[in-house]
Amino acid sequence: MTTAASPSASADPAPRPDARFLRALRSESVDATPVWFMRQAGRALPEYRAVRERATLLEITRDPALCAEVTLQPVLRLGVDAAILFADITTPLAGMGVAFDIVEGRGPVIEHPIRTAADVAALRAFAPEAAVAPLLEAISIIRGASPVPLIGFAGAPFTLACYLVEGGPSREFIKTKTLMHSDPATWNALLDHLVTATIAYLHAQVAAGAEAVQIFDSWVGGLSPLDYERRLWPHMRRLFEGIADLDVPSIHFGVGTAGILGLQASAGGDVIGLDWRIALSKGRRIVGDRAVQGNLDPTLLLGPWEGVEESARWILEENDRRPGHVFNLGHGVLPGTDPDQLRRLVELVHDHGASR
Ligand code: CP3
Repeated sequence: MTTAASPSASADPAPRPDARFLRALRSESVDATPVWFMRQAGRALPEYRAVRERATLLEITRDPALCAEVTLQPVLRLGVDAAILFADITTPLAGMGVAFDIVEGRGPVIEHPIRTAADVAALRAFAPEAAVAPLLEAISIIRGASPVPLIGFAGAPFTLACYLVEGGPSREFIKTKTLMHSDPATWNALLDHLVTATIAYLHAQVAAGAEAVQIFDSWVGGLSPLDYERRLWPHMRRLFEGIADLDVPSIHFGVGTAGILGLQASAGGDVIGLDWRIALSKGRRIVGDRAVQGNLDPTLLLGPWEGVEESARWILEENDRRPGHVFNLGHGVLPGTDPDQLRRLVELVHDHGASR
């Protein structure tokens, strides 16, 4: 196994369609259920904390070798079946002319929130090769060094809009939803801009070597089904149509989505992410004939192993050895999670064995 310590950029890395993660995304049979964790880099690992002693998140994403190293840390320690590029959903915003900072313990804070038609008109067109060159270079290093497939990703337009309009992390998304309801023209212009940028961003990541992509719609569970359908669905549809020509699978993820899962699935995504508020078999019935990813409550990992084990086995039984299941948490790894719990969970999922 090549390690992150000896990154070797590969110009044209060999495809690995038989990796169990990629087989599961295509709903093909697997020798064991693949597993990875959202936010697997960063939150739980002491080796990440060590890197953070000398570099901020923004600095890591602008240093290809360091970014590759941090991306591969959880692969080497935990034995997961996929790597996810180390970046933040806000990373591409700088390339749109948005000034922001990532504040320790709080999250992304936007210097001048976007609230008017003029604010939206002032956004710059996103040109990935100019805006995120170091990140694209990191992808090619990771492709040459990673023993498992690399997931590229982007924030979904609603979740990005929540940061842009609120100006920072929020619970209720009041300003965002108020803009959506009271100024639909500005709302649509903002979402159009974000969708166009995201299509370009994901194309650039795949061209650089990403083998699957995930769209994170972390805050979409705040919308009613009616608002999703009227105000967001057309934008999500355009996003998935815009990446349909990529020959890598897409994962469509959201949190608190039990009430809008059918709508989300109809907007697009080869694989639908489920959180823990819905039983996996029920989620499968709603999203129909496609793969699912999920769905352990990440809070369980802060408690005793027995609780993790009981719920993980329940999820695997809910899936009933059907092909097309990628094991994951229902949301990201929480700060303070013991990496040994994560490693044990990977072993449990793998030991469960093959799909039909
Ligand atoms: O999954 C991974 O390990 C890859 C890296 C990754 C980060 N952010 C690094 C990060 C990914 C995939 C994200 C996605 C992200 N960022 C989402 C979608 C997933 C989710 O959790 O819902 C969202 C909503 C964000 C926004 C964000 N970025 C918040 C709320 C915060 C602060 C809280 C925290 O620690 O996550 C961030 C900062 C951030 N993004 C950190 C990391 C490692 C911590 C900052 C640091 O180490 O200095």
